[in-house]
Formats: sequence, C-alpha cells, structure tokens
Amino acid sequence: RAAILDGMQMPVVELHLHLEGTLEPELVFSLAERNGVDLPYADVDDLRSRFAFADLQSFLELYNANMAVLRTGADFHEMTDAYLSRAAAAGVRHAEVFLDLQAHTGRGLRAAEVLDGVTSALAASREKHDLTSGLIVTVLRHLPGREALETVREVIDLGAPVLGIGMCSTELTAHAADFAPAFQLARAHGLRRTAHAGEEGPAQNVADVLDILRVERVDHGVRAMEDPDLVRRLVDERVPLTVCPVSNVRLKGVETLADHPLRRMLDAGLVVTINSDDPAYFGAYLDEVVDRTTEALDLGPHHLRALARNAVESAWVDDARRNELR
Ligand code: HPA
Ligand code: ZN
Repeated sequence: RAAILDGMQMPVVELHLHLEGTLEPELVFSLAERNGVDLPYADVDDLRSRFAFADLQSFLELYNANMAVLRTGADFHEMTDAYLSRAAAAGVRHAEVFLDLQAHTGRGLRAAEVLDGVTSALAASREKHDLTSGLIVTVLRHLPGREALETVREVIDLGAPVLGIGMCSTELTAHAADFAPAFQLARAHGLRRTAHAGEEGPAQNVADVLDILRVERVDHGVRAMEDPDLVRRLVDERVPLTVCPVSNVRLKGVETLADHPLRRMLDAGLVVTINSDDPAYFGAYLDEVVDRTTEALDLGPHHLRALARNAVESAWVDDARRNELR
C-alpha cells in the first residue's frame, strides 16, 4: 500500500469492530453446510448482492439473520480467527472487538460456549497473528434493559476474560437510562464501558451515554458535530470517538465518503479514531477504510498520524503495551 511504502505511521489499532460483521459470505455458506442450516440465498454471489442497505435497520436484519449459521464454540472460534488473520494482514497490531452475546443466547446457545469459542481465538492472537486483542460484550438496545443487566451479570459470573461492555443495535427507540443498571454493574466490576451513539440518533444520545451510562468512549458519535457545545465538551474531556466512515456511507448516514465529517472532526480537535465496523458487509477492512477515506477526504500525514495516535491513546491497554504500539 502506498501509505506504508511512504513509511507513514498508519492506524494500527482497531477499536470498533463487530465479530459477527466479519462473517464473509464464503464462511456463511461453509458454516451453514457444516451445521445443516438452510440459507435463503442461491450462492455467495446472491448473498453478496444483498449488501445494498437502505439504513441501519435493513443492515441489522441481514446481519442478524446470518448469525443462524453460528452454532458451536468452534464456529465462533473460526469466525474470530479469520478476522484476526485478515486484520493482521491490514497491519492491525491491537484490536478490541464486539460480540453481540445476547443475539446468540437468544437463539438458545450457551453463553459459556460462545464466549469460550471467541476468547480462545483471541487468547492465541499474539502468538498466531502478532496482534493483541480484547473482547467487548455488547448489549442490544432493541432488547429490554433488564436483559442487558442479566447479560452483564452472566458475563461476570462466568469469569470470562472480557475487557468491557458496549451497546449497539438500533439507537432510535430505547432511552439510554434503561441500560443504566447494566452499565453500573459493569463499572462496579471493573469492566470498561463504551456505547454506540450519534450514528443514526441525535447528538443528545451522545451526551446521554456519557452522563447516564458513564461510558469512556463513544462508538460513531458523528452526529455530535450538530451540537457545538457538545463538541467542545468532547474535546475538553478527550472522549474518544470510534468513527467508521465507510459504514456511515453504506448505511446512508452520510451521502458519500467525500461528505464525511471525519476530517472536520479531527480539525476540531476531537479524539477521532478510524475503524471498519462490519467489514464483510461494508466491503472494507481497516486498511481499505483508511485508504479510501484518505483519498476521498484528501487526508494529510498529520491527519493520519493523529488517527494513529488517537487510537493508541484510546485503547484499553496497559502502559507497557501502549508504549509498544506508539
Ligand atoms: N450500529 C449499531 N449496531 C450495529 C452496528 C452499527 O453500526 N453494526 C453492528 N451492530
Ligand atoms: Zn458498530
């Protein structure tokens, strides 16, 4: 890649990635065959042809439907390892990845088996892919807050190696306050906290997850740009925003990559990082997201350095690892 050939420091930390969003059509089909799951698609090309989304909701429907092929711990291990391998090829050296645990327990899978499949692959990532990693279990905003609390409690009771709790899925219905008990429990047990906000929802949602859920990062957060007071606060408090420009275009939050606010956000002094979100569905892993965004927004070396520095600063790693990543 041109940028690497120039010796420029690239973002090497990925902080916003859904493991289920890395299920490539080929893997969907091979897992379906292994598990005897009937797919409503003729072949991988037919599935790929459906990756034209009108909005977040239409994406979530396909993303959730394809999870049906994930049945055993081995399936989760294979999906996770395939992502780590691709991420390593993209130059990623540290990844903090989301898992929609409730989407799987809701289909009758055991939390312990799902978590074991994922965490066993993550535990091997340093040896196998020269990449460190951490797991963020997400609670789903379209489900009741009570179920989020039960999920956090189960994660804690299982003693699984989990770095933190996140929140994703549709942003337009439930209020952040419904999830305060779940995030409070996570905080009491030393889990890190982040939440999707300001992707399709208004700037107020960003303030709400900070004030009510006491999150340490915000996933997306692009609509914070609609509120200058909030921008000032995010700059002052150095709140990391894990921005996913290709995702925002593919889910029609932003018309084209050239219209994306990422460059304006950096220039405003926000702690912006760049990420891939659901790379199998949006057609771009982190290296491709960086390349396309750099070209569309004409980012300069100082922008790329800021993105790299912000991601290292925002990662939930100890000082020793942070220094290695610098
Ligand atoms: N937003 C909300 N929920 C999600 C996303 C997203 O971009 N990707 C996977 N789940
Ligand atoms: Zn996301």
